[in-house]
Amino acid sequence: MALANEELSTKQLLEAQAHVWNHIFNFINSMSLKCAIELGILDIIYKHGRPMTLSELVDALPNISKTKTQHVHRLMRILLHSKFIEVNISNEEEEHYWLTPASRLLLKDAPMTVAPLVQLILDPILTEPWHHLSEWLANDHHQSPFETTHGMLFWECAKHEPRLVSLMNEATSSDSRLVTRVLLENHKIAQIFEGIESLVDVGGGSGTMAKAIVDAFPGMKCVVLDLPNVMAGLQETNNLTYVEGDMFQTIPPADGILLKWVLHDWDDEHCVKILKKCKEAILGKGGKVIIIDIVLDIYEGGDKAMEDQLLFDMMLMTLLNGKERSEKEWAKLFLDAGFTSYKITPALGVRSLIELYP
Ligand SMILES: C[S@@+](CC[C@H](N)C(=O)[O-])C[C@H]1O[C@@H](n2cnc3c(N)ncnc32)[C@H](O)[C@@H]1O
Repeated sequence: MALANEELSTKQLLEAQAHVWNHIFNFINSMSLKCAIELGILDIIYKHGRPMTLSELVDALPNISKTKTQHVHRLMRILLHSKFIEVNISNEEEEHYWLTPASRLLLKDAPMTVAPLVQLILDPILTEPWHHLSEWLANDHHQSPFETTHGMLFWECAKHEPRLVSLMNEATSSDSRLVTRVLLENHKIAQIFEGIESLVDVGGGSGTMAKAIVDAFPGMKCVVLDLPNVMAGLQETNNLTYVEGDMFQTIPPADGILLKWVLHDWDDEHCVKILKKCKEAILGKGGKVIIIDIVLDIYEGGDKAMEDQLLFDMMLMTLLNGKERSEKEWAKLFLDAGFTSYKITPALGVRSLIELYP
């Protein structure tokens, strides 16, 4: 056993140590980002309108005393390293902080903000199950480490935790704005909605995606179907209506059925049930299901995108008993639910667009 690491060269030993340390401490990147968002650091720099010095930043931070200046500097240094901040050096050689494209996506009031997703995924209710992953793998008692930890499934827990529901709604709404912008900017891809006169967004949350679609295609009627606790107090329009319901029971009939970020939340058995309900709901011959989700090994954006796919998959296993699927796994679901053909378009970075025909 001693030889297992003694046979490594000095170079290998030090590289291995750095690699392990990097993985031990990686959560500190996530937590530092969460802290910066909670303190509003990125928003303060943005509102300042030009690069900001450390002392200007500390002055502008509410509730942070000057005695913490050097601690804030250390936080900014790790954010600089993880490319959420860039630094301009002025004539006086003082560092001035400014935003990067990634931190612009974390501004609280930005329409496509990812800040609520940071807060949701790093909420203690969602981080605690990671401590129970090995216990869950060694037992057959629960559907997910989330259930091992909290004694109930995520969707059950969400009913008692309005904070989680509102973070999830904010996170998925922002994401829907980003996805619709990417979809509608690409005319070839936007064609997937052409000819669809009625659309049901199944598990469509507060309807952000549906709103953007009916704005872009004013002739279309869209229904958003979701659970009652998600849908309270939403404003309907002429061509956008909300239906409280359960996608495992009934899906309103339409030409097009949209499932964005829904199927990856569920195991194969539940997915086949949902897809069968979608098939029953499709009106007429030209109808289809449009799925927006990850297809493993199909992505744009290199190693980071591939790692994102694998991290999402682990997150779904731990929190929801869901999974990310390869093309082969998707194809099996489609066949089991009675569909005849599908088309995958890798147009959304880490995720793909799948058109599914009855
Ligand atoms: C990850 S969110 C995706 C929301 C939205 N499609 C988006 O991507 O912006 C999954 C959605 O499925 C909804 N959901 C979960 N179980 C459901 C059920 N049985 N019937 C209808 N909707 C459900 C949740 O309330 C949630 O809004």
